[in-house]
Amino acid sequence: MIKVDLSGCGNISLDTEKALGAVKALKDGSGKGNDFIGWTTLPYDYDKEEFARIKSAASRIRKDGDALVVIGIGGSYLGARAAIELLKTARHNEIEKPAIYFIGNGLDGADLNQVLSLIEGKSVYVNVISKSGTTLEPALAFRIFREYMEKKYGKEEAAKRIFATTDKARGALKTLADAEGYETFVVPDNVGGRYSVLTAVGLLPIAAAGIDIDEMMDGAAKGMTEALSGDANAAAVLYAAARQALYNSGKKVEILSYPGENFRFMAEWFKQLYGESEGKEHMGIFPSSCELTADLHSLGQYIQDGERMLLETIFRFEKESLEVEVPFDEANGDGLNYVAGKKYSEVFKAAAAGVKKAHITGGVPVIEITSDSVSAESFGEMVSFYEAACGISGYMQGVNPFDQPGVEEYKKNMFALLGKK
Ligand code: PA5
Repeated sequence: MIKVDLSGCGNISLDTEKALGAVKALKDGSGKGNDFIGWTTLPYDYDKEEFARIKSAASRIRKDGDALVVIGIGGSYLGARAAIELLKTARHNEIEKPAIYFIGNGLDGADLNQVLSLIEGKSVYVNVISKSGTTLEPALAFRIFREYMEKKYGKEEAAKRIFATTDKARGALKTLADAEGYETFVVPDNVGGRYSVLTAVGLLPIAAAGIDIDEMMDGAAKGMTEALSGDANAAAVLYAAARQALYNSGKKVEILSYPGENFRFMAEWFKQLYGESEGKEHMGIFPSSCELTADLHSLGQYIQDGERMLLETIFRFEKESLEVEVPFDEANGDGLNYVAGKKYSEVFKAAAAGVKKAHITGGVPVIEITSDSVSAESFGEMVSFYEAACGISGYMQGVNPFDQPGVEEYKKNMFALLGKK
């Protein structure tokens, strides 16, 4: 269960009425961008036939594949990577098969080349993901990997190893997939990219990594039911209302401080979700992140003493999945026996409490979010919590949290410079 503790925020006054008005608008579809709120019912109301096909494709990849190359960017990339690194660790590829390589999320040719050499001689599957089917970065990467797969396996066998996740009817990827005979999965019309991790966009790579997606959907259903129940004390309502209260008091940047490397892509997913949803009409909290405790040795000084426009959200799990205990050392040459016998999770808990106290003293309000432990179920719950809170917070701010007109601007310039007609 997710809990939100606002005791580190000083005397903020929450506009509960406005927050619950936002919950109602999400529930009855009366708010801005209401054609993109399919994610509010997705955890209970999803295509069961497609869900079964996702599981069967994933089990084929797991049985026969050494490597799965996942091609996508933004909302068609971050959620799957967040789940896999959190639940299977960032070192997953060194531990179990299939190795999962994410590409097409930028224009780094060296990275692309490296993945091509890493999969040489291996049994390879490809999942290309693009809702629009026209985004340049994944489309370019797919052109290169399609050629690679066809050379390696021949056209017919390559087609059996390529899965396309895209719009049900439109876009260049859908046309290509139908022409080549790839198995396709659908990004529903009413779910935007950054809210799509619990559709085939996230679920196919996540299931291919051996994560239980039934359990994940159960957790998401629990989380969404709670978030949109109309309870003023629901974690998502408290978080959204606190963010808006702090924003209105001059806190313009939110730092999500998280517990270590495996959570890094969860923070990247959060940054896209909140940045694209709220950064509009010259308003919105700028989402950023800080890895505890590594980044305290780089960002710590600024957080403690820099300009006071920051709010911090510390996320931690009550229980660690893999515990390590600090050993006792008779000689105690390093002077560390004061922590001997303690588990790493206890040391982290003390560190997080110390960070919280120091930052509050330095004038940074701290929201603390806790989840019981790392599991597929708690990941699903976290997705619902963050998505619901984002919708509530965006509506409280008065913007449409479900469009992203600003993302088009760089594309126009880039296409013009590349000579696209
Ligand atoms: O949230 C969004 O809509 C975007 O970040 C998209 O996910 C991203 O631009 C990728 O788009 P597409 O899936 O159409 O390739």
